[in-house]
Amino acid sequence: MSMPSARITGTGSYLPQKRLTNHELAQKVNTSDEWIRSRTGIIERRIAAEGEFTSDLAVAAGKNALMAAGVSVHDLDLILTATTTPDLIFPSTASIVQHKLGAHLNRTPAFDIQAVCSGFIYALSVADQFIRTGACRRVLVIGAETLSRILDWSDRGTCILFGDGAGAVVLEADHGGKRGILSTHLHADGAHVDLLYTHGGVSRGGPSEGGIGTIRMHGNEVFKQAVKALEGCVDEALDANGLTKEQIDWLVPHQANIRIIQSTAKRLGMPMERVAVTVDRHGNTSAASVPLALDEVARSGLIQPDHLVLMAAFGGGFTWGSALVRW
Ligand code: ACO
Repeated sequence: MSMPSARITGTGSYLPQKRLTNHELAQKVNTSDEWIRSRTGIIERRIAAEGEFTSDLAVAAGKNALMAAGVSVHDLDLILTATTTPDLIFPSTASIVQHKLGAHLNRTPAFDIQAVCSGFIYALSVADQFIRTGACRRVLVIGAETLSRILDWSDRGTCILFGDGAGAVVLEADHGGKRGILSTHLHADGAHVDLLYTHGGVSRGGPSEGGIGTIRMHGNEVFKQAVKALEGCVDEALDANGLTKEQIDWLVPHQANIRIIQSTAKRLGMPMERVAVTVDRHGNTSAASVPLALDEVARSGLIQPDHLVLMAAFGGGFTWGSALVRW
């Protein structure tokens, strides 16, 4: 029997209720709506409520994806959660999500994946391997973040960029073989930790004022690296699949900055009408950004069966990668 492909049969997402606009941020730090909009494309972002954790966002998105796929939580063979902002150091957020979803009754395996903003692409790739080998038939893949909890709200270079949210997909084995994930490509380069990191952690210890550390970024340098890596991702996915850029129907990129998104779209010669853009309303939600954007275009009904959808992401690590899907 031929190897099954991993088909996305349902998508879901969740955003916390509280909106934080650029105007509100300008009351806290020395910035302006005009600066943030023109440099990033962001207008507002969502912030998780007190007592609302990454697992809560993940569960809400996961339930929506399961409902869209018409799959019961008891039919899942694996739950993956991509996050940089876990509820706790351990157990994994995926374990907490598994329990909150009720999948503990089935002892469904669950684990986290940490690849910062590329986390969802990494998780999708892992799930794809599990399905192709026949080890799993149905996998719930979630990207969820509460980045607001690791921001330095006095640093205007970073606090304006990030937001909270979650997105999810259900992947199912498809023996028809034509639809599903066609390829995933993952990359990492750990030589640039000093450009994008949190200034505290478990083993190294927290910053002098205590706590877990907050995001530190050399934005300009990261910007250049992100543009280069994402353009490379596009070429790599096309080459690997023997496709031309005209054949791609949808680009679903990581939502860090509208200028980075536009440069990736330009590489594909793709009009912005066929690019998923949520950065204006979500900001950068790290591992949640690609599945949130995917859910938005999937639910709009604009993605049709057999469309070719290219997802790509870049983030801390550095990590980057792509997933090409025949819808
Ligand atoms: N408001 C007003 N001025 C600001 C702000 C702000 N919020 N932030 C920075 N500035 C100032 C700087 O101090 C600097 O002033 P100076 O010239 O007097 O020194 C000036 O604006 C220019 O700063 P740059 O950092 O060069 O601005 P840039 O055009 O590069 O935009 C930005 C900054 C938006 C952060 C951009 O570099 C970017 O988007 N970088 C990529 C982010 C990214 O993709 N991250 C990857 C994923 S994140 C993850 O993995 C967790």
